[in-house]
Amino acid sequence: MVRKFFVGGNWKCNGTAEEVKKIVTVLNEAEVPSEDVEFGIVILFEPHVTACNPSCDLGSLNLMHRLLFFFGSEVVVSPPFVFLPMVKGLLRPDFQVAAQNCWVRRGGAFTGEISAEMLLNVGIPWVILGHSERRSLLNESNEFVGDKVAYALSLGLKVIACIGETLQQRESGSTMAVVAAQTKAIAAKVSYWDNVVLAYEPVWAIGTGKVATPVQAQEVHLELRKWLHDNVGAEVAVSTRIIYGGSVTGANCKELAGQPDVDGFLVGGASLKPEFIDIIKSAT
Ligand code: G3H
Repeated sequence: MVRKFFVGGNWKCNGTAEEVKKIVTVLNEAEVPSEDVEFGIVILFEPHVTACNPSCDLGSLNLMHRLLFFFGSEVVVSPPFVFLPMVKGLLRPDFQVAAQNCWVRRGGAFTGEISAEMLLNVGIPWVILGHSERRSLLNESNEFVGDKVAYALSLGLKVIACIGETLQQRESGSTMAVVAAQTKAIAAKVSYWDNVVLAYEPVWAIGTGKVATPVQAQEVHLELRKWLHDNVGAEVAVSTRIIYGGSVTGANCKELAGQPDVDGFLVGGASLKPEFIDIIKSAT
């Protein structure tokens, strides 16, 4: 299965209606690779091979490569809730929209929350869940995030599920244990992964300007793919997109995009700027 490059723009809690319209205009006027006219070739590695040989050189696994055609990027922007219908109405049809959160179960007496049903009712196909800002500031646990992901998927939403370690966790050598536990809490509730994009976002890289190096990102993405292989299944491991987030810019995206297990980006600050177009184009 082709892992189509995925670029998400998380606008977080930013913008006025006028500013949002300007961002949409920039996106609408951008010349980006179209599914109709441009293609390249991507090489997918069979994860079970690397899982069995964790120290092997990926570049030497030529016989295990699968050559597949790849068309452009899937682009999804995520404005604040109040701007979702406006952005959906104004945005070019080849780009999609995502909410930045939704309630864990069916709506009801949950003041201030937005339900998955409501998102679907107004035609929003995607939702970001488990972002580190919600995990840390609003105490969303791994289990709560897992429940949210499962409920949103069960209704037909597509989910960008975020995971990532803090600086302290990285420095103590527990990066993989942390992201594996976060992924496990999702896997425990989810059996159908086609509509899941896994976003690896090291907390220490978010909004700090300290982007993970391509080697650091690739290392975790590959480990996550192995984890999926060993704990969910070979097909899910090879087909699930694992994207990177944390201080991605127009300047650093190309090298990150060149890593074999980096299938795209979740972009915060730079998604509010024209350089987001460069990030969308980094797939080609
Ligand atoms: O969801 C996006 C991430 O939090 C990354 O944000 O690109 O501003 O570091 P950033």
